[in-house]
Amino acid sequence: DIRIYVEEAPGQRREIIAPTDMGLSLMEVLKASGYDIMATCGGMALCATCHVEVLAGPALFEPNDDELDMLETLPVIHPGSRLSCQIRLTPQTDGLVVRLAPTGA
Ligand code: FES
Repeated sequence: DIRIYVEEAPGQRREIIAPTDMGLSLMEVLKASGYDIMATCGGMALCATCHVEVLAGPALFEPNDDELDMLETLPVIHPGSRLSCQIRLTPQTDGLVVRLAPTGA
């Protein structure tokens, strides 16, 4: 299992323990942890309601074109903006720190 951290307020991080042997995405784990993520498209990189901002942690693979196209539809994106449904949790994602980014902000 790995640990990921959700910054709920400045300086306030919640630790979430997540398995890496089930092929889960970050979006699925955040939803299962009680976060209010609509994920309207079910994880297909087609809705951007699972937008998160990666604040720290291990280097992630680059977003693919589908993810980049969808991120560009958001009114505001951040340097660390990602679609959480496109981040597969693996041992390499241990220690990831994210903040939920409201779709419209
Ligand atoms: Fe729709 Fe991630 S759940 S883009």
